[in-house]
Amino acid sequence: MAGIVLVGAQWGDEGKGKITDLLADDMDYVVRFQGGNNAGHTIVHGGRVLKLHLIPSGIMYPHITPVIGNGVVIDPKVLLEEMDRLEADGLTTHRLLISCNAHLIMPYHRDLDGASERRLGDNEIGTTRRGIGPAYQDKASRMGIRVQDLTDEHILRKKIEAALVEKNDVLVKVYGLPAYTVDEILEEYMGYASRIVAHMADVSDVVNRALRADQWVFFEGAQGTLLDLDHGTYPFVTSSSPTAGGACTGSGVGPKAIDRVLGIAKAYITRVGSGPFPTELPSDPGSVGEFLTNRGGEFGTTTGRQRRCGWYDGVIVRYAVQVNGLTDLVITKLDVLSDLESIQVCVAYEYEGRRYNELPCRQSIFHHARPIYEELPGWNADISGCRTFDELPKEARDYIGFLEDLAEVPVSIIAVGPSREQTIMRRWERRL
Ligand code: IMP
Repeated sequence: MAGIVLVGAQWGDEGKGKITDLLADDMDYVVRFQGGNNAGHTIVHGGRVLKLHLIPSGIMYPHITPVIGNGVVIDPKVLLEEMDRLEADGLTTHRLLISCNAHLIMPYHRDLDGASERRLGDNEIGTTRRGIGPAYQDKASRMGIRVQDLTDEHILRKKIEAALVEKNDVLVKVYGLPAYTVDEILEEYMGYASRIVAHMADVSDVVNRALRADQWVFFEGAQGTLLDLDHGTYPFVTSSSPTAGGACTGSGVGPKAIDRVLGIAKAYITRVGSGPFPTELPSDPGSVGEFLTNRGGEFGTTTGRQRRCGWYDGVIVRYAVQVNGLTDLVITKLDVLSDLESIQVCVAYEYEGRRYNELPCRQSIFHHARPIYEELPGWNADISGCRTFDELPKEARDYIGFLEDLAEVPVSIIAVGPSREQTIMRRWERRL
């Protein structure tokens, strides 16, 4: 059995797409288990830059079956457009499997996401406005519409009718937006139905069979630990479970199926959207914050928003080790720190004279926590050509060692540039 989970150990955008791509040779299945097209995975593959939002990163490998699990919310329009784009790029999407239990994002979900953000004003979450939260809300209130509902026009009509009774009221009376008719949504979604249904599968059964047959299944997380609905910086979180447990509930496998849990973190940290961020750096001209933004290309794949940047936060990553049961760390973008004379790492927080070595569970403390830093020397050398750990300058090796000691798990993979080759594999035994 080889179930391997990859999760973000920070606030997302850690470079999960690249790592999935890197390990793809060893995998038989790549499974998305939560989130939707709020995610954006950039992969540099064969000299081409691919931007994926919904489709698992293994899509470009003919030996991999890409799977969208039940925990994902699917905007069918976006999914079909993404499939069309990949096909136009010469890639085939016919192997894609989609869980019959995955929920659909409906047009009113997108409207409600945008409208509720506008209403929150200064208190907005800073969502991607893709309808993610409202779709999960409907799932939890048992009025969601699922992929399997696309197989039967009569059932789909009934479900849209039932949903619109409430949605139209809210759209019109609360937000002053236009109402939808059942027929317009039905017509649009029946237009997507045949192409989506062609990929529909019992994902739990498929994945469990694969695991029993000793095939390798890679569960590809989206977003990150601190955006988790339960374990993140609530309410500034996404509406799904990007932590490792989500891989089980979002695909229908038991926890014993998971052999290894990789947590991925940048060598610094970024965040998009609102919410607390203790190690955030100002991004004024000439500042370290601006340097990280530009050198790291810190602009969102999905919304193009500039990401907030800060020093590596060891407290957050230690927390991620705990809530995910991480077995390994993957550190990305180490090359971005080259040229800095010294580097700060947050090892604890301070609030009202008290030191916090662990993430304070009270949000109001986390909001006002001041980072306690340790300063490490920079390496002032181009490391993008390094392929082994020993080739890295001593200061870079020490930096990684410091992060390892803080997290108490090994750093098994280090990325020193955007392409597949620019990676140092320290603890990954390739499958024969
Ligand atoms: P939502 O997922 O669109 O509801 O947005 C909720 C929060 O999660 C916002 O702060 C978003 O910026 C953040 N978020 C959602 N998806 C991603 C992602 O893939 N990377 C980073 N942040 C994300």
